[in-house]
Amino acid sequence: MSKKTPSNQQWGGRFSEATDEFVQRFTASVNFDQRLYAHDIKGSIAHATMLAKVGVLTDTERDQIITGLTQIAGEIESGEFQWQIELEDVHMNIEARLTQLIGITGKKLHTGRSRNDQVATDIRLFLRDEIDAIDLELVRLQTGLLDLAEREAETIMPGFTHLQTAQPVTFGHHLLAWFEMLKRDRSRLLDCRKRLNQSPLGAAALAGTSYPIDRAYSAELLGFSQATENSLDSVSDRDFAIEFCAFASLLMTHLSRASEELVIWTSAQFDFIELPDRFCTGSSIMPQKKNPDVPELVRGKSGRVNGHLIALLTLMKSQPLAYNKDNQEDKEPLFDAVDTVKDCLRAFADMVPAITAKKASMLAAAKRGFATATDLADYLVRKGVAFRDAHEIVGRSVAYGIAQQKDLAELSLAELQQFSSHIEEDVFAILTLEGSVALRDHWGGTAPKQVRQAIARARASLGE
Ligand code: ARG
Repeated sequence: MSKKTPSNQQWGGRFSEATDEFVQRFTASVNFDQRLYAHDIKGSIAHATMLAKVGVLTDTERDQIITGLTQIAGEIESGEFQWQIELEDVHMNIEARLTQLIGITGKKLHTGRSRNDQVATDIRLFLRDEIDAIDLELVRLQTGLLDLAEREAETIMPGFTHLQTAQPVTFGHHLLAWFEMLKRDRSRLLDCRKRLNQSPLGAAALAGTSYPIDRAYSAELLGFSQATENSLDSVSDRDFAIEFCAFASLLMTHLSRASEELVIWTSAQFDFIELPDRFCTGSSIMPQKKNPDVPELVRGKSGRVNGHLIALLTLMKSQPLAYNKDNQEDKEPLFDAVDTVKDCLRAFADMVPAITAKKASMLAAAKRGFATATDLADYLVRKGVAFRDAHEIVGRSVAYGIAQQKDLAELSLAELQQFSSHIEEDVFAILTLEGSVALRDHWGGTAPKQVRQAIARARASLGE
C-alpha cells in the first residue's frame, strides 16, 4: 500500500498511512454518539472553565472556547453541522469544528483530558437527564393508576391464582398491585441515579493528568455530587448503564405482566375492560376485530430491553482495566433501552386513565367461579368446625353447586345444610361477594376501605 497522509488530524501524528476505509467506518461511532452532543458540549464548557480557574487557560481563551462551543450547539440543532465519519466520533467532530471556528485556542480544549474521561462524563450526563424524564413519566403512570383505583375501589372482580378464579377482589386493589411494582422500579431508578451522579472528568486517559486540575470544581459545575475516586475505574466503569438496564428490564417485566392482563381482559371470553379505540387497531381481514396492539407491543418490547441488559453485562465481563474500545458498544443498547422505556411508559400513562371497567361482566365472572368458597370455610371455622373439616364440607358443597349449575349464594339454606348442620341463615351475608371483600379489612387487604387508605398512603408517597 502506498504511503498516504494520515487522515485523522487529532491522532494522526504517529501514523504513516491513512486508516483503511472500512476500518474507518467499522471503528466510527459518530452515527450514533452524535446524540450526546449537548452533553459533550456541556462537559467541555465545564472543563474549559475549570482549566481557566487553575490557570491552564486564560480567561480570554476560555471565553473563546465557550463562544465557539455555543455556536456549534446552534449549528447542530439547526441541522447545518456537517458530521464527518473521518472524524470518528462526536468528540472529535466537535473539537475539529471548534478549531475551525476559533483557531489554535480550539486545540487547547483537550488539555488535561482524554476522550476516555470525556465519553464517560457524557454518558453519565445524558443518562442523568433521561432518568429525570423517565421518572416524570413513571409518576404520571402511577398517578393515573391511583386515579383509576380510586374510581374502582369497590368494583368486584375475580382474583386469580393459576389464572383460575380464587377469591373475589376489588379492581382498585388489583391496580394497586401494579402501583407497588412501579414504586419499586422508581426506587431502583433513583438509586441508580445516585450512584451515577459522580464526575469522571479529570481521570483523563486512565491515570489522571499532570496539570493542576480541580476535579471537584468541574464536578460541581456539572451538578455531580462529587468527583469519582479512582481514575482507572472512572474511565472503564459502565456499571451505571448496566444498573439502568437492570431497572429497565424489571420495569418492562412489570409493564409486560400488566399488558398480558389487559390483553386477556379485553378478550370476549373475559370482557372485563374496554380500551379506547385510539389505543387499538383493526384487522385488515376480520371486520369485527379490535386488537389491543399497544399492550401487546409493550409486552413484546420487554424482550429487546432484556437483550440490552445481557449485551451490556457481556460487554463488560472480560474487560481488563482501564478503557477499551469495547466500551463504544455501550451506547446503542443504552440508547435503545432509554427510548423503549420512555415510549412504553408514555403509552401506559396515556392509556391507563382511559380504561373502562365493565363492572357487570367482572361481577358475573366472580360469581361463576365459587369465589366465596374460602369465606364459607372461614364461616364454618367461626362456628367451631376445624379448618380441614370445613375445607372438605365446602368442597362437597361446591361439587353440588357445579352439578346444579348454581353458585354457593344461589343454593337454599336447606341445600347448604345437607353438608353441615352448622350452616345457618346468617351464612348468606358472607356468601355475597361484597361481604367477602369487605371482610378482608386489614393493611394490604382488598376491602374497599383498605384500598382507599392504601391510595391515600400512595398519594402521600408521591408527594401529592
Ligand atoms: N467513541 C469512543 C467511545 O465511545 C470514545 C472514546 C474513545 N477513546 C479512545 N481511546 N479511542 O468509547
